[in-house]
Amino acid sequence: MNFASDNAGPMHPRVLDAIIAANSGYEMPYGNDTIMPRVRDMIRATFEAPQAAVYLVATGTAANALALSTYTNSWDTIFAHRVSHVEEDECGAPNFYSNGAKLTLVDGIGAKMDPDALRRAIATTGQKDVHSAQPGPVTITQATEVGTLYSLGEIAQITAIAKDHGLKTHLDGARFANACAALGCSASDMTWKAGIDMVSFGGTKNGCAGVEAVIFFDPEKAWEFELRRKRGAHLFSKHRFLSAQMEGYLSGDLWLELGAQANANCARLVKGLETIAGAEIPDTPQANMVFANLPRAAHRRAMGAGAQYYLFPSDASLDGPDDELIRARFVCDWSKPTSEIDQLITLLRG
Ligand SMILES: Cc1ncc(COP(=O)(O)O)c(C=O)c1O
Repeated sequence: MNFASDNAGPMHPRVLDAIIAANSGYEMPYGNDTIMPRVRDMIRATFEAPQAAVYLVATGTAANALALSTYTNSWDTIFAHRVSHVEEDECGAPNFYSNGAKLTLVDGIGAKMDPDALRRAIATTGQKDVHSAQPGPVTITQATEVGTLYSLGEIAQITAIAKDHGLKTHLDGARFANACAALGCSASDMTWKAGIDMVSFGGTKNGCAGVEAVIFFDPEKAWEFELRRKRGAHLFSKHRFLSAQMEGYLSGDLWLELGAQANANCARLVKGLETIAGAEIPDTPQANMVFANLPRAAHRRAMGAGAQYYLFPSDASLDGPDDELIRARFVCDWSKPTSEIDQLITLLRG
């Protein structure tokens, strides 16, 4: 009963089959394998962006940090939500890869940037002449770190503010498939048609072993990105196995099917959580993740029976008053059996 993360699950068999199929004979290394041109074409078709520059890396942190650094001077600041992976969970990688650029944190409910807060943050950056960091790119996360979604209109609002100031925009799509499936929109609707310049397109959390695509809709800095990826030690020599995963993931729109399945699993979980006495669900879950405040006794029962998920704060104790609420995060991937979801609810409910 593992609800800790969507990267705790297995690979999808079709992705594994694609890796096995790639494991015969010889292929040129470093992205020059025969699979990568097909992957590039598939991503360009999926995003309706024939000119896009497409690269693969093995982690979401690398995708975010390398993509952002390509449009960040070392004296810039990147605008990110306070509750974002780049701020909270990447050990400063975007700053490191940008040679010391800073992050400016922007607030907004449901882990979504408030447009006015972003406008204010940009307007007040760089005011101290040479003494200030200068405005750099804006990054948003879709689906967000708390399982909410920006609507297409909200994305367009954020990118319009960035563009008014001549800034590039990046979308952290570690859960791109979940968001796209939930919104029922196309990949292009959620990105360049809404003003996004570059995307980290996640595979790892949704059925792959470890692959993410970095997509630039304008290829002007493609060569620079390649140099950054190599210098940053993220150009794989056995690249064919990254390409194979992505090919398996994109074929027949598997990515979208798995995203929808993960969302449906989470919806079942949310329905169950709502039946637990005293439960509070502060942000309406829209994708494959839910945060819930639940009585300590419920956690004691579930965790005592082996359920795995994160509590907040991370050192929250299971000893204490039964009815005191403790915040927890539950994440479902595509593979989560409904029986496990139901079992978790039964344990929590008591
Ligand atoms: C929103 C978001 N972005 C990016 C990542 C990528 O992280 P990793 O470097 O662990 O693949 C994650 C993983 O937790 C995430 O939740």
